[in-house]
Amino acid sequence: MKTDLSNYVYLKDYQKTEYVISEVDLVFKLDPEKTIVQNKMRIERRHQTDAGTTLVLDGDELTFISAQVNGQSLNEGQFEASANSFRLLTPPADEFELTITTQVNPSANTQLSGLYLSSGNYCTQCEAEGFRRITYFYDRPDSLAIYKTRIEALKAKYPVLLANGNPLTSGDMDAGYHFAEWLDPHPKPSYLFALVAGDLGRVSAPYTTASGRNVALNIYVEHGNEPRSTYAMDCLIRSMKWDEERFGREYDLDVFNIVAVSDFNMGAMENKGLNIFNDKYILADPKVATDADYEGIETVVAHEYFHNWTGNRITCRDWFQLCLKEGLTVFRDQEFSSDERSRSVQRIQNVRSLKSRQFPEDSGPLAHPVRPDTYKEINNFYTATVYQKGSELCGMLQTLLGIDGFRKGMDLYFERHDGDAATIEDFLACFAESSQINLDQFALWYHQSGTPLLKVTRLYNRDRQELSLTISQELAPTPGQEKKEPMLIPIRFGLLAKTGDEQAFSAIRGAKVKDDVIWLENATQTIVFEGVSEGCVPSLLRGFSAPVNIESDLNSFEKLLLMQHDCDGFSKWQALQDVAGDILVKLSVGQEAPELDAFTEALAAIIGDDSLEYAFRALCLQMPSHDDLVPHLSGKYDPEAVYQAKLKLRKQITKRLLPLFETIYSEVKPASPFNPDATSAGARSLRNTIVSYLGISSDQRHHELVVKHFENADNMSDQISALITLVHDQITGYEVALQQFYEMHKNTPLALDKWFAAQASSPTSSGVEMLECLAQDPAFSWGTPNRVRALLDPFTIGNPRLFNKADGSSYKYLAQKVLEIDTKNPQLAARVLNAFRSWQHLEPTRRQLARQALASILDAKQAISIDIRDITERCLQ
Ligand code: ARG
Ligand code: ZN
Repeated sequence: MKTDLSNYVYLKDYQKTEYVISEVDLVFKLDPEKTIVQNKMRIERRHQTDAGTTLVLDGDELTFISAQVNGQSLNEGQFEASANSFRLLTPPADEFELTITTQVNPSANTQLSGLYLSSGNYCTQCEAEGFRRITYFYDRPDSLAIYKTRIEALKAKYPVLLANGNPLTSGDMDAGYHFAEWLDPHPKPSYLFALVAGDLGRVSAPYTTASGRNVALNIYVEHGNEPRSTYAMDCLIRSMKWDEERFGREYDLDVFNIVAVSDFNMGAMENKGLNIFNDKYILADPKVATDADYEGIETVVAHEYFHNWTGNRITCRDWFQLCLKEGLTVFRDQEFSSDERSRSVQRIQNVRSLKSRQFPEDSGPLAHPVRPDTYKEINNFYTATVYQKGSELCGMLQTLLGIDGFRKGMDLYFERHDGDAATIEDFLACFAESSQINLDQFALWYHQSGTPLLKVTRLYNRDRQELSLTISQELAPTPGQEKKEPMLIPIRFGLLAKTGDEQAFSAIRGAKVKDDVIWLENATQTIVFEGVSEGCVPSLLRGFSAPVNIESDLNSFEKLLLMQHDCDGFSKWQALQDVAGDILVKLSVGQEAPELDAFTEALAAIIGDDSLEYAFRALCLQMPSHDDLVPHLSGKYDPEAVYQAKLKLRKQITKRLLPLFETIYSEVKPASPFNPDATSAGARSLRNTIVSYLGISSDQRHHELVVKHFENADNMSDQISALITLVHDQITGYEVALQQFYEMHKNTPLALDKWFAAQASSPTSSGVEMLECLAQDPAFSWGTPNRVRALLDPFTIGNPRLFNKADGSSYKYLAQKVLEIDTKNPQLAARVLNAFRSWQHLEPTRRQLARQALASILDAKQAISIDIRDITERCLQ
């Protein structure tokens, strides 16, 4: 475990390696406790490096066995080897071959970084710094080499032997062993190395690329799970086609392998030619996977595939550039989902997720720029900011340059940087050059942390028939950044006349405008619309054209007008959320909300509007989350009061919309037999959202309907929504339902995760006591990331009422659990700890209790990892 106290890494210190490792020839003799790794490297001194300079390679918990240079064993005095570095003190002046043999213990690797065992199968995870836990190397993304990998293992136990690239040869050896050799012709950084050995089932499909290359696609899963992998295969094929059509990118090897494992720290990993997945993002069948799970599979399969070009062919120069591959690849997977499903529904879902994950991060102690300039532990920077805000920045570029302009920039990027380890500056230069637009101001988005706030005020001049909008942008101080510069903000806009129709105008002045996008460039800018009628209402930030907050002078009736009539689906939904948010804030501080009735009327009109998509209507029934409201309550955020306010609003909605709910519930019929497509999923989503409202109805009939919904469910989406409603509202029969669910799914861990989550997220449970009780279940294990996340995320994220219990018991519990998890899996512990990212917004009593819990982590008697120390220290700063 890395426990170093003070190692900050700085972007400004970047230097090239002194030597270049161009080829790597690896031999693995696999053994659960004593795996031998022989690593033969072709190495050359860079000409800037003085001859004789010590060659220093990274290591982490390695056991050194032996080393040779050009086949000659090294003597003492020629090298130094420790668990975390190898130093060649007397390197030859010319090109040479360095062979180092190490021993590692996969079965003791509970961190799940490097080479480890999952359900008895060998697998690897090397991003960000896991390769150094396998062998000594320049374990950094700008060190690109060609890898050949030979794997030797017992044939009976490990019939499948996989590594990156194309298969070379394989065959039998003595004593029941066999081997396989793989060659990856594409130079790559070590974080993309992968190896798998195990007894696995396989699903295969052929694919022919646009230029005629035949590719064998394989998905490897535990035996018996083959039928559950067909959806993932379908997603892979659609992703490959889409990347050819949309970005002109083809696959470049003869095979593309995916392996699903059940012990994995994150979603999945884009290793060249050998993606390794958390099985949650591969396995699906209607009985076990919800529609959201199907969508997640589509997204992650596409995401990892798209990395082949944005990440692998063009990789990052250093880890500060992480958003270069992650932000861009999220953008690509979001575009893919939008093309495959409904664009406006996808946009709303992405923005909801951005606002509930990234905005809180950006307004709290863990705020950091999309392209940070310092870090202590890189694994803590795989954040919502790097991924989601990083994607938003690509989206803004596309908005500013247009779809074709964006594509041109991407084409140049691929052409110019294929085979490179690149930077954000390299990336932006391609767009500036291809569009002939100066992007210097836009680049600030990568450097300045925090969410900008746009303040908008209006003035109407009746004589001249002009509407002036004065828009100012503010960016509050964030850790390490006191002062900020104004940024270039694309604002997609429209105007609505009082009638709700789109309002035309004769001209605009005061800002650069391209099509329907204002280019806001100054700290304050006044934009004048000429030839418009009085009372028209501006609709700003259509499609959420920039990741900003907006504070406008629209009154609730104007917001209601946008909610009823905006032609932009996103803005319509956002207006609804804004009105609901205003109501919730008022209710939570004990005020009246005069707009409540008008709101429920307008909501009823939307929910009953058959011209709107089911999925859209379902989203409109989701009221703002606690995270959405926190910024409006900063320093006095009382989660219990917000919970009560939400309950009150939901009850009002149920009362007003009940007849509509009943009609929709009985008339909307999702496709039967089950189909995971977007339309059927939308229908289920609408019905299931309605079911969640029926749970709070005071009418017994509705409770019976929820029970029936549970009992008649033929798919997991229906079954789990009903179960959640039964449990959260403690509807008679909920214990029996929990029992039935458990019995039905007890042999399917991914399904049981939902059983844990349904209870952990219940605002009416006992909180910590219930968690302790669930953790005793034989199906639970603190050593498996999926189990831990299934228990803790629904509690810390999905149950703000009980996570923030006024006695601080949950904070204390979480701090204790983080310390326990840390001894096994620091990356997982650090993730869990993120639950405290908004503690400073809490009301004073809870704030104090949260601070104490955080402090207790630093005061712990045990040695803590650099991972959780970094998060805790930043949280407390
Ligand atoms: N690159 C992986 C992805 O597709 C995630 C790797 C996360 N690694 C980590 N150490 N947290 O997004
Ligand atoms: Zn990624």
